Amino acid sequence: MPLQGRHIVLGLSGGIACYKAADLTRELVKASATVQVVMTDAAQHFITPVTMQALSNRSVYASQWDAREPNSMAHINLTREADAVLVAPASADFMAKLLHGHADDLLSLMCLARPIERCPLLLAPAMNREMWAHPATQRNVAQLRADGATVLGPGSGDQACGEIGDGRMLEPEELLDEMIAFFEPKSLLGKRVLITAGPTF
Ligand SMILES: Cc1cc2nc3c(=O)[nH]c(=O)nc-3n(C[C@H](O)[C@H](O)[C@H](O)COP(=O)(O)O)c2cc1C
Repeated sequence: MPLQGRHIVLGLSGGIACYKAADLTRELVKASATVQVVMTDAAQHFITPVTMQALSNRSVYASQWDAREPNSMAHINLTREADAVLVAPASADFMAKLLHGHADDLLSLMCLARPIERCPLLLAPAMNREMWAHPATQRNVAQLRADGATVLGPGSGDQACGEIGDGRMLEPEELLDEMIAFFEPKSLLGKRVLITAGPTF
């Protein structure tokens, strides 16, 4: 099983693509990952914590004031055993918050408080094409990459608003493939390869 033993914190921020996060959770669980869902307030307008809890088989976290944790510090505890945090969908707003190190909701607080060296952050942006193309979003994405985040997609095509262009969240199967590839050993990392097209005799 490709993700056997992997513990993934799946963050949902507010966007239509939250509906895809349900299937993504199923795909990750089928690939033997454990999935802990964390949602922003806005995400809960698009899909319910009940659905995400049922599919992940774990209680969903959505508030930094959640008293379920004995030390009241869900924002610390949630990432300490995690192999990665994947935010899918990552809204334009959420990426802007991340970029500036805001921490006024559980998901952004948890991303900021995660052990950056051993708990990578992956973002699957999802938004309208104009939002995606806006210089502010492009600046934010470039800086998030420079800060070490891995940005998956976005894809291109029909959008929920009826427009067509870049900004669709990758499909759940594509995100699963990306996650599997992310955890594969990178045997060629740092190697320089010379490919020649010399003559054949
Ligand atoms: C119907 C509707 C659809 C939306 N879709 C998106 C979207 O696909 N991507 C996005 O970045 N924002 C979208 N938004 C705006 C976000 O929900 C809004 O910026 C929100 O504050 C994000 O909060 P969060 O980043 O804390 O989750 C949408 C808003 C509405 C009302």
